[in-house]
Amino acid sequence: MPNQPLTSRIEDAAAMLRKAQKVAILTGAGVSKESGVPTFRDALEGYWQNYNPEDLATPAAFKRNPRLVWEWYESRRSRVGSVQPNPGHVAIAEIERLLPEVLVITQNVDGLHRRAGSREVIELHGDITQHKCFDDCKGNPTLIDLDSFVWDKSNPPPYCPHCHSAYVRPNVVWFTEALPPDALHRALDFVSRCEVILVVGTSGVVQPAASLPYQAKRYGGAKVIDVNPIPDEITSIADVFLQGRSGEVLPEMVRLLRA
Ligand code: APR
Repeated sequence: MPNQPLTSRIEDAAAMLRKAQKVAILTGAGVSKESGVPTFRDALEGYWQNYNPEDLATPAAFKRNPRLVWEWYESRRSRVGSVQPNPGHVAIAEIERLLPEVLVITQNVDGLHRRAGSREVIELHGDITQHKCFDDCKGNPTLIDLDSFVWDKSNPPPYCPHCHSAYVRPNVVWFTEALPPDALHRALDFVSRCEVILVVGTSGVVQPAASLPYQAKRYGGAKVIDVNPIPDEITSIADVFLQGRSGEVLPEMVRLLRA
C-alpha cells in the first residue's frame, strides 16, 4: 500500500520481524550518519574537499601516494574515535536481543555496531581501527598493532614490522579489492536462509553487499524491509519501505517489538 502512513508501515515491519526465527540486518553508511560519520559519497570536507574518495580508497592510490592515503584514513579514524553510536545502532543491538537469531552484516568500517552492543556482526569491508601489511606477508589479514614497534610517526606510513619491505595499511576493503572470503561466505549463507532481511542506510550500489537482499529474496523467499530517507537501489524489491532516518524509524520498531 504505497500511501500507507509510516507508523502503520513500521507496524507491518515489526509484525514480519516478530514472526521470524532468522533475521539478517544489512547496514551501510546511512546508519552512522546520525553519529556524525561522513559517508563516502558525501562531499569531502576541509583539506580533503578537492579529492575524490574513489581515488583515495584503492590499492593503486596507496601505491602512488602512501602518505596521502594514510593521512586520509588517519583523519577518518580519528573522527570515528570521537563519535558515539546513535539510536539507530542501539535499536539494532536491541533487535538482536529481542529476536531468536539475528546477524548484522555491515559495510561500515567504524565499529559502531559493536560499540552499541551488537554481538553477531560481520564487517564486510573491514575495520578502520585495524592495520595490516600491504603484502599480507603473514596471510590475510596480518593485523599489526602500531604501538607494538618503533617507527617514525612524523614520516608515515611505517614499514611492516614482519617483512620490513611493504608498508602498513588500514585493514579495510578498498575499491577493486575482494571482500574477505570468510565474511562474504558467512553472509551469503545466512541471507539465503533468513526469513527477513532488514536493510538500513545503504544506497545499494556497491557489490557484492548490494546483492545480499536479492539473494535473500530469491533463495530463501525472505521479506525485505528497507529503511532510508530516500528510495535506494533496494527499494524496488522491498516488501516494506520505511522512508525515514534509521535513528527515528528503528527505535519505534523496537518499541513495537517490545510491546
Ligand atoms: N538513516 C538511514 N539512511 C540514511 C540516513 C539516515 N539517517 N542518512 C542517509 N542515509 C542513506 C542515504 O540516503 C544513502 O542511500 O544512506 C545511504 C548511504 O549510501 P552510501 O554513502 O552509498 O553508503 P553505502 O551504501 O554504505 O556504500 C557502500 O561503498 O563507499 C563505499 O566501502 C564504502 O561501505 C561503503 C560502500
